[in-house]
Amino acid sequence: MSPRKRTLWGTKFGFYLAAVGSAFGLGNLWRFPYVTVENGGGGFVFLYVLFAFALGLPLLIGELMLGKLTRRSVISACQRLVDDEELSVRVGAKKETSSNWIWVGRFSVLTCLLILSYYAVISGWVLHFLMQFFVGQFSSSGFDVEKSLTVLRENGILQIALMSVHILITLVIVIKGVQEGIEKWVGNIMPIFIGLLIVLALKSLSLPSATDALRFMFYPNFASLTVYSPLHAVGHVLFTLSIGIGTMVTFGSYLNEMTRIPAAGFRVTTMDTLISLFAGLLIFPLLIGLMPAKTGPELLFQTLPRLLADLDSGFFFGVAFFICLYMAALAASIGLLESVVANLLEVTKLTRAQAAWFTGFAACAVGVIPALSTSKFGNVNVRGLGFFELLDSILINGILPVSALGVSWLIARKLKRERAEEEFVNDETIATQMLYSHWSFVMKVLARGIILGSIVLALLGLLGVI
Ligand code: PHE
Repeated sequence: MSPRKRTLWGTKFGFYLAAVGSAFGLGNLWRFPYVTVENGGGGFVFLYVLFAFALGLPLLIGELMLGKLTRRSVISACQRLVDDEELSVRVGAKKETSSNWIWVGRFSVLTCLLILSYYAVISGWVLHFLMQFFVGQFSSSGFDVEKSLTVLRENGILQIALMSVHILITLVIVIKGVQEGIEKWVGNIMPIFIGLLIVLALKSLSLPSATDALRFMFYPNFASLTVYSPLHAVGHVLFTLSIGIGTMVTFGSYLNEMTRIPAAGFRVTTMDTLISLFAGLLIFPLLIGLMPAKTGPELLFQTLPRLLADLDSGFFFGVAFFICLYMAALAASIGLLESVVANLLEVTKLTRAQAAWFTGFAACAVGVIPALSTSKFGNVNVRGLGFFELLDSILINGILPVSALGVSWLIARKLKRERAEEEFVNDETIATQMLYSHWSFVMKVLARGIILGSIVLALLGLLGVI
């Protein structure tokens, strides 16, 4: 089970690009706006930002630290943290074995695989819209949003094909290895996309509905929240920051000695949160202007093309936007696939290519279920939720928090205080000392409380008690 040689990030910038690249994706642009709408607007945005910094950031720091200190991906990292005397706290004289804790790692890799499959389906939707948008410009009838949505909704085979193509593209990049694969792709996409997002958000904010949209997004109207809103906020924060499934542990394991983890985590969280807020500024004025009868996971695709249609260079912006969105989805998928592969490499004898193909096939097989959600399972309705929303909720608001809880519990319980403190305290200032105490409190008390609370809420909801 000896780890293979680990290539570290070539540059500090390379790490940021990859970590922000993994965090930044469909979670920000596609999921954040529609979950905000489902939870009533400003009150939810408030909860989301609060949890991003109070809960997400400390957990992110913990995962990066686990990777950096063990130089392993999550399964072996859990094992090493328990077994290595340099890293691990001894509770009494008895030596704890890693065999139970290793399940925490295994569970998070499984969750990672499930998220990859679900993510690949939505990435397929983006591919579909990219093609439709492109082709629509050259056909006499133009680009028809409703028609494109209907074709996608009703054709399960199309969704399976798009998902498989996406997984194949991701796979090829991952087989080429971390450095060349991730840095090259993400490095080129991110700045262009952020620029494009800002330009489009400004355009959207010049619409007459902008004032209402700003009020909807920023006025914390807590009365519109539901009992489940805190649970949705926790799930979304974990998802959007890529926490709880070992991705950030893998990225942390490639960090070089000199990188200060708290600062790195803070930058990643801030960037990711700002990008989500920009996505809201882009989508909400359009949504309020349009007033569609029904929204949901289709929100982004329903609204954005209308803005593009009104722009002078709409075709150019549209194609550029969908290409960038697809690239962002690809970067996040690379992070997901890479972390399953990195774990397989450490615990099996597979080669990188074999591990990647194996993961790709498994993801395609699982992905068939969400890919059929709007066609074959289109009539399913469980307490107002369609099949896709049901899967989304089970995965992001149920399984992901359980996985995040396991990893954070292990770090809080096993990581030696001195080793964690070293990562925070780079000088003798009180500020860094305080930062450590705060982090430790969140890991030991607050994170458990909040995540356990939301899991209980999810279970009660599932059982129909509330
Ligand atoms: N954070 C990504 C997004 O917002 C999704 C993701 C989750 C990527 C977990 C990797 C791991 O789109």
